[in-house]
Amino acid sequence: MPDSASVDTYAVKKEQWSSRFTFILAATGSAVGLGNIWKFPYITGENGGGAFVLIYLFCIAAIGIPIMMAEIMLGRRGGHDPVTTMKLLAKESGHSSSWGILGWLGVIAGFLILSYYSVIAGWALAYVPMMSLGNFSGLDAQEVNAVFGELVSNPITLMIWHSLFIIMTMFVVARGVRGGLEKAVTYLMPLLFMLLIILILYAIGTGAFQQGLSYLFNPDFSKITTEGVLSAMGHAFFTLSLGMGAIMVYGSYLPKKTSIAQASIAVAMMDTLVALLAGMVIFPIVFANGLEPGAGPGLIFKTLPLAFGNMSYGTLFGTLFFILLVFAAWTSSISLIEPAVTWSMKTFQLSRIKTSVILGLLVWLMGLMTVFSFNLASDFTISTSISTQYGEFVILKDATAFDFLDYLTSNIMLPLGGLMIAIYAGWLMKKEFSAEELKINPLWFSIWLFLVRYIAPLMVIIVFLNALGIVAFVRHIIN
Ligand code: PHE
Repeated sequence: MPDSASVDTYAVKKEQWSSRFTFILAATGSAVGLGNIWKFPYITGENGGGAFVLIYLFCIAAIGIPIMMAEIMLGRRGGHDPVTTMKLLAKESGHSSSWGILGWLGVIAGFLILSYYSVIAGWALAYVPMMSLGNFSGLDAQEVNAVFGELVSNPITLMIWHSLFIIMTMFVVARGVRGGLEKAVTYLMPLLFMLLIILILYAIGTGAFQQGLSYLFNPDFSKITTEGVLSAMGHAFFTLSLGMGAIMVYGSYLPKKTSIAQASIAVAMMDTLVALLAGMVIFPIVFANGLEPGAGPGLIFKTLPLAFGNMSYGTLFGTLFFILLVFAAWTSSISLIEPAVTWSMKTFQLSRIKTSVILGLLVWLMGLMTVFSFNLASDFTISTSISTQYGEFVILKDATAFDFLDYLTSNIMLPLGGLMIAIYAGWLMKKEFSAEELKINPLWFSIWLFLVRYIAPLMVIIVFLNALGIVAFVRHIIN
């Protein structure tokens, strides 16, 4: 049986974060992104508010944090790309090397997510010049809507911004993760935070702040559907960058002495805070202007310009805000493709630069599906549902290519990856190995083990079965 040292003998000399603080910054950079500012408000709006937020928060605490600890731990112990890491770890604890599939799932999920992530980040890029030219000054809600509609209906414009964002991402990835962006996060994250606070002050002034808060924090469980529960859970994985090897790869650069538990909790807290702040900005603006909370993916692009267009120094703050949003998306996008990059470099023995160029081209191409799903191919949709005598279980309703990719990755692939991570770390990895990595006191270790062994896997499984109508079926049989 290989001992713990033998894993290290496989590990090549590799990059490491300069300190614990840089790891937390990089992991926060990965976690905080479009998921918090763009996606969280719009899926909250689509799922009726408070009850969705409560389920999401519960998922962060009970599934997200323990799985994040597990994923970082696996990454640090394995020390490679997700596929190799899982194979090595499985060998170390005497299990099948088929666990490499977990790494594969992640490499593919990250690739697919980046393909649409980059298109949305392209919207944010497009808004930077639009904001700075004062295009939104004094516009009303309808006019702002029209501006957004015009942007997404133009495939060429979207393609240009999407291309630019892919180039930005692959440029950083080609230089290695320590190539500068890590330092940028140090300044940009606090700045983003400050701008959100300024926006909250504006939101308070709209007169609908109370209404926005109660929408976010007053749970009305009659509004929640089985799909809502699935997307709350899926989003917990998405927003924390879990279940696809991103945090695993980042963990592989983590020095041995850093506390994984503290880092995970810090990252999860910052991530959640940014999402809630974004919600507290968006919904008061929605209600003050008679807008629709369920407006979909365009929500922040239709609400925030209204705020900026009507506040003093709005042009300045608005430009700054979209620049920061682009940076937040940028630090996430590099982590989305990092698993695929490290894996391809090793498998095809290519340089980092070549790998980045090839993968960049492939993701760009894949991204065209999302570009066209907002215009030329917007009528090309699919719907699937399972209808049983216990109810109708909608899997997808009029889903465009973008909706489909988002559903497949966030609601299926990431939770599935997370489930496998929890099972591996909780049940298959030798306890002495996980204890050695986590180095927390025995009580906390037992709590963690209980969460990754039972709570996280069971919750993921139940939510999956629920979405498929199987829970309703069983309940019917029992009654
Ligand atoms: N967490 C990022 C966000 O919220 C997205 C992401 C998902 C990044 C998965 C890496 C891995 O925007």
